[in-house]
Amino acid sequence: MTQDTETAPKAAKQLDHRYEGMAKVTGKAKYAAEFSEPFSKSDLTYAYIVQSTIPSGTIVSIDRAAADRAPGVISILTPFNAPKLNPGQPQPPARRNLSLLQNADVNYNGQPVALVVARSLNEAKAAATMLKINYSPKASRVNFMENLGEARWPKNPGKEPAGNHRGDLQAAFTKSSVIVENTYVTPIQHHNPMEPHATIAWWDGEKLNVYDATQYISGVRMSLAKTLNIPIDYVRVVNPVVGGGFGSKGSMWSHVPLCAIAAKVTGKPVKLVLDREQMFGPVGGRPSTVNKIKLGASADGKLLAMQQDVVMNASVMEDFVEHSEGPTKNLYMSEANSVTAKVVEVNLGVSTFMRAPGEAPGTAVLEIATDELAEKLKMDPVQLRLVNYADKDPSHDRPWSSKHLRECYEKASERFGWSKRSPKPGAITEGNALIGYGMATATYPANRSSAQAVVRMLPGGRMFVGSGTQDLGTGTYTIMAQQAAAGLGIDPELVEVKLGDSTLPKAPVSGGSQSSASVLPAIQDATAQLKLKLADLAISDAGSPLHGLKTLDIDAKDGSLFNQNNPSQRDSLADLIARNDGKPVEATGSAEPSESRDAMTSNSWGAVFAEVAVDKDTHMVKVRRVVATYDIGTLLNDKTGLNQLVGGITWGVSFALCEEAHIDPVSGRVLNNSLAEYHVPVNADIETLDVTVLNIPDVKFNPIGSRGIGEIGITGSAAAVANAIYNATGKRIREYPITPDKIM
Ligand code: MOS
Repeated sequence: MTQDTETAPKAAKQLDHRYEGMAKVTGKAKYAAEFSEPFSKSDLTYAYIVQSTIPSGTIVSIDRAAADRAPGVISILTPFNAPKLNPGQPQPPARRNLSLLQNADVNYNGQPVALVVARSLNEAKAAATMLKINYSPKASRVNFMENLGEARWPKNPGKEPAGNHRGDLQAAFTKSSVIVENTYVTPIQHHNPMEPHATIAWWDGEKLNVYDATQYISGVRMSLAKTLNIPIDYVRVVNPVVGGGFGSKGSMWSHVPLCAIAAKVTGKPVKLVLDREQMFGPVGGRPSTVNKIKLGASADGKLLAMQQDVVMNASVMEDFVEHSEGPTKNLYMSEANSVTAKVVEVNLGVSTFMRAPGEAPGTAVLEIATDELAEKLKMDPVQLRLVNYADKDPSHDRPWSSKHLRECYEKASERFGWSKRSPKPGAITEGNALIGYGMATATYPANRSSAQAVVRMLPGGRMFVGSGTQDLGTGTYTIMAQQAAAGLGIDPELVEVKLGDSTLPKAPVSGGSQSSASVLPAIQDATAQLKLKLADLAISDAGSPLHGLKTLDIDAKDGSLFNQNNPSQRDSLADLIARNDGKPVEATGSAEPSESRDAMTSNSWGAVFAEVAVDKDTHMVKVRRVVATYDIGTLLNDKTGLNQLVGGITWGVSFALCEEAHIDPVSGRVLNNSLAEYHVPVNADIETLDVTVLNIPDVKFNPIGSRGIGEIGITGSAAAVANAIYNATGKRIREYPITPDKIM
């Protein structure tokens, strides 16, 4: 047992099923686009976004006569008639530059340039095809790879950020015995959650209501209020279940205010659902990164110098920086370290955070380079990582709140059978397949923000917990029930959970893997307050067996309050509320990131091992096994927690083998804008996923001891697969995705 464990609180009793699972599989759970109340369903109208067909230029005129006459059309908004809005930008982290028909500029192909509202979706779509848009095109640039020379520092601040260079890089390279230096490329990717972006908006006088597929109800609320210039109290955002987000639903995109504006203009509720095709451009994506990486080490494998210079595409509309240089700053110890990140402006949609922004592409590239260094040193790749183990955060020169990565390497390599690996590529064959083993390190920062929650003791021993957070399918409902129940020692089955409604106490964006780490401490605080209130109620209640005791003498367990000095003296919570005339007792709670967070760094860690089989003739790659062990603090729920890691690894395999947006070099449109052509893995693509966690609480990070796990699974896993492909074939592919043509 480590010291961390001894100081840790007892883990909450787990709910053994997903709280919302039954509602989802029986169709009772509603995604944003599925609501038909409280507005009158017969009033509901349908909006369809019209997209630009050129990458750059100006809209000169729109001939709308035919569209206006088309059946069912109620209203058509264009840059020439759309209401003028407050020019202020929405607040971060919801900040993404939007296309709200405020001018006639076209910045990318696929940009929203008009909105058709009709009685039905089919009528709206039909009328959209009848709009004749006349453009005056401008010169455009859509291929950033051909323009790497145009790279510049990102705006804000527009110069090199501080803190990206450590030590004497040139001197460290000079004394290095072994150097690897190569360029690694990651592609543009799009999020493609199962549920597309969707909004239903309706006005109740001056007040705006929306159902919106979002990872951040408070962010949408704030951004809508600001964009539409109305008081924030006038906006309500509801979103009880989310069909995945992966970051694209972390910001408010153009369709949300456009839907609200359409509802205002028409005086009717408006539903706006993006097509799958419209998910490729107007709602963000991961930029492509070109990473020049140079590593220098001594003959015994000690890293002396690490350098990474990244160039990525950014939209002419807004800079977004994918920090793929991040892991190079703190994954390993090195004497000298230098990173830069620059952007090339292109006429593409705005980029945004996607599935472990920074660390996903960052580990994908650095961990191939590390594998190459191990090979050149004739060292085992795990051994190389142990030699350069960072016992403190090298980028900030401060301790980790908790780090057990060594145990991850040990446990996962053991379960995988890493000792059976041959360092010689192509050494193992089975039939027509080349078998390869590869490994990589996983890491993702542990984030945490201010959050609030409300709890209520209800009649019948039941409890309510609410917080304005979101559940992306990841398990927020489930762990909220657990945490509320733990606070009063009741069965988590007795807890009713509400989230996804901006009338609830505020919680942060469900992004950056921070929901559990932020919201559960707030629930813990709320239940502590509730226990005090219930104790006081019992003390002042002449009918209570605890009447007249002191508050501090009373604790809660198994559905009752009891006297800690005489545990047989107890009052059931059901009886207590019944004697209170059935009136619930409510308490609120809040939690902030710990004040000591600037004195240490909190990250999660993992070791990922992959086995692939590569067909000698077709070069198709089959991922036979991924074995991974993570250090993520306390695992809150076996089912929802391990499931997120399995999902993350699957996205890592996707990164390695499948995902890439192909941009037409002339039009700047995404060519493979469907799930038929934008490939993601399915069950048949991965045979075995063996995921374990150390379950060692990180109590310096938060009182629950738990770090978020939404994103770490994708980190490291792409490189583990890439390194396994090298071990199988001897082909070092440095450009993702590793498709069969590249292995030829
Ligand atoms: Mo995540 S990319 O922060 O939703």
